[in-house]
Amino acid sequence: MKLAQPVSVPVSVSAAIRAALLECDPQAKAMAARKVARDWRLGRLDFAFEAEMPEQPGRPEAPELLPPGRLPRRGKGGSERGRIALWHALGHIEFVAIDLALDMAGRFGAEMGEAFVGDFLSVAADEAMHFVLIDRHLRSLGSHYGALPAHAGLWSAAHDTRHDVAARLAVVPMVLEARGLDVTPTTLERVRAAGDERGARILERILDDEIRHVRFGANHFADVAKRFDVVTGDLWKSLVSRHFRGTLKPPFNDSARLAAGLSRELYAGVA
Ligand SMILES: [Fe+2]
Ligand SMILES: [Fe+2]
Repeated sequence: MKLAQPVSVPVSVSAAIRAALLECDPQAKAMAARKVARDWRLGRLDFAFEAEMPEQPGRPEAPELLPPGRLPRRGKGGSERGRIALWHALGHIEFVAIDLALDMAGRFGAEMGEAFVGDFLSVAADEAMHFVLIDRHLRSLGSHYGALPAHAGLWSAAHDTRHDVAARLAVVPMVLEARGLDVTPTTLERVRAAGDERGARILERILDDEIRHVRFGANHFADVAKRFDVVTGDLWKSLVSRHFRGTLKPPFNDSARLAAGLSRELYAGVA
């Protein structure tokens, strides 16, 4: 008996991204992000941007989101509770990073082009994998994502820069993700010193991937600067001072930053 072939309906990349952003369940969002990235890579999605990106992505009921000042202190990895608090905080960062990458591709893809969409969908797939690895690790420690409250502020950098791809690139990959390059090696050492080799390997993988994420950001930012015919460093500094409320503080991981395309010269003037 011959079965009817399913008719494949072309779906726009923006509609697929929007659906992944609106997904509330963490595991389902991670799977949806990986699927959008795969479908895009395999040419199953149209380069079309009729679907609007949501103001707020879907969120699960837990974790409760609290302003940073009301969060329990992140553990240093010593006690069991401290370890769980550390991995929970890292898991939340990766969970929000899925949405940050999806929103980047879906909101600015039309103006930035197909390579940009491909780059940031691959970032979304990486972040989904990071989240899944961390959640699995949390479960091996007897906890899970959602068991503790988490930082409410991570999405605000995206929201504040939703009208300007240059500002978004300047702040999200080139400041926030670059900050991850600075702090992860110390966390990794601490985790390894505490005997958590599996956790250390997860962080090694994350660090490698994040160098690539920052590099995508820096490369596309340089393209925008060229389009505006302005000096990359000047544009970056002015956007960071306008859109980033924190300070860029040393110590910097100069070698990882350089591998990601951020020269010391670039951020020296801002720090
Ligand atoms: Fe990540
Ligand atoms: Fe990342």
